[in-house]
Amino acid sequence: MTQTGDALRERIARELAGARARTALLTGSVDDADLIRQHSPLMSPLVWDLAHIASQEELWLLREVGGREPMHPEIDLLYDAFEHPRSERPALPLLPPEQARAYGHEVRGRVLDLLERARFSGTRLLGDGFAFGMIVQHEVQHDETMLITHQIRTGTPVLTAAAPGPAPADAVALPSEVLVPGGPFTMGTSAEPWALDNERPAHGVDLAPFFLDTTPVTCGAYAEFIADGGYDDPRWWTADGWEHRQRAGLAAPLYWGRDGRQWIRAVFGVTEPVRPDEPVLHVCWYEADAYARWAGRRLPTEAEWEKAARFDPATGLTRRYPWGNADPQAAHANLGQRFLRPAAAGSYPAGAAPCGARQLIGDVWEWTSSDFGPYPGFSAWPYREYSQVFFGPQYKVLRGGSFAVSPVACRGTFRNWDYPIRRQIFAGFRTARAAAAETP
Ligand SMILES: [Fe+2]
Repeated sequence: MTQTGDALRERIARELAGARARTALLTGSVDDADLIRQHSPLMSPLVWDLAHIASQEELWLLREVGGREPMHPEIDLLYDAFEHPRSERPALPLLPPEQARAYGHEVRGRVLDLLERARFSGTRLLGDGFAFGMIVQHEVQHDETMLITHQIRTGTPVLTAAAPGPAPADAVALPSEVLVPGGPFTMGTSAEPWALDNERPAHGVDLAPFFLDTTPVTCGAYAEFIADGGYDDPRWWTADGWEHRQRAGLAAPLYWGRDGRQWIRAVFGVTEPVRPDEPVLHVCWYEADAYARWAGRRLPTEAEWEKAARFDPATGLTRRYPWGNADPQAAHANLGQRFLRPAAAGSYPAGAAPCGARQLIGDVWEWTSSDFGPYPGFSAWPYREYSQVFFGPQYKVLRGGSFAVSPVACRGTFRNWDYPIRRQIFAGFRTARAAAAETP
C-alpha cells in the first residue's frame, strides 16, 4: 500500500532494523570458525552473506540513490553473487567476521542518515521508497538462506524457537480439497509498491475450474507414498525425475531417516520423530511431481496457485493476500522465523483464502508445475540479473513463502524459483486436479 513521507520513512527504518536483528542473531549464534566454514557446497559461508548484505546495501542505497563513491572498491567483486558461485566463495580473501560486521555497521549508519533526508519521489528507485524496500527484502532473503545453512550445519544446536500451536479443532473436519472456479482473474501486480520486476505487470489470465488440496501435503501422506513403493516405481516419475532419483539415491525427504519402524528427522541439529500432521518439507520438485502422480493428481500451475490464493469470487477482485488486503499479522500465517518449522496442516483459519484453502502463505514454499518466465509486458528493473537471466525451463516456480520468510518479502504475487533437484530449501507442495467433469 502506498505510504508517503514520515510514515514510509518510519516503516523503512523499522523493516531495516528488523532484518538486521535477524541477521545478527543468525550470525551471532555461532562462533567465528563456524561463520567462516562452508557447511555445504550449495551454500555460502555465513561470513560471506554478512558482508554481501552490506555490499548490496552500499551499492543500491549509498551509491545509486545517495550518489556516494564506493567505500571499499577493492572488495566489491568478492561479494558480487554473479562473479563467484557459492562453491568458490570460501576460497576468496573474504573479510573476517569482525570486519564484515564493522562494514555492515558503517553502511547502515550512513543509510539511516540518507533515509532521514530522503524524498520518496523524483526517480523510479526512490518512488515509494522502492530501493529501500528492495534492500530490506534482499537482507531478509539472505536471512532465509542463512537459516538454510543453519539447518545443514552439524554440531551443537544453537537455534531454538517455540513450536507453533496444535492445529485448530476444525482442522480434522476440513475437506481434503477445495474448488477454485473457472474464468478470468488478474494475476501479478502493477500496484504493489515494493513488488519486484518479475511480479509485474498485472494481467488477465483465464483458467478452467480445478480442485486444490486444502492444505499442503503432510508428512503422514508423504510417508504413505514411500510405504507404497513410490520411490521405486518409475510410473510416477518423469524421465528426468526418475534418472535423478536413481543417480542421487533419493528414498525419502532430505533429513529423514529410520529409527526402527518410525521415521525420524533432523531439525536444526535436533533429531525427533517425523510429525504426521506437519506439511512435508525438503522435497525436490521431482519428488513433489511423483507424489502427485501417485495420488492420481498433479501439481498446480503457478497461475492456479495464485488464483486460489488471491481471487475472490464474491467480488471478482484479486486480493493482495488470501485473507484480504491487510499486511500479514501473526494470526494469518507462519512467517518471519517466529517458529522454526511449519504449523500443523489446517492451521491459520484466519489466513484462509476465499476458496477455503489454508496456509497458502507461510509454512512451506510450494512447488508449482510452472517454469519461471516473464509475464506479458515484463521489463527488467532495476537490473537484468534480478530475474531476467533466470527465465527458462531450467527453473520451477515456488509460491507462498515459508516459516523462514519475512512478511515484508512475502506477497500474494511473490515468485521464487529453483532447480527441480533442490531439496535444502524450505519447500513442500500441494496437489490439484481438473474440475471440468464435476461442474455443470
Ligand atoms: Fe544476494
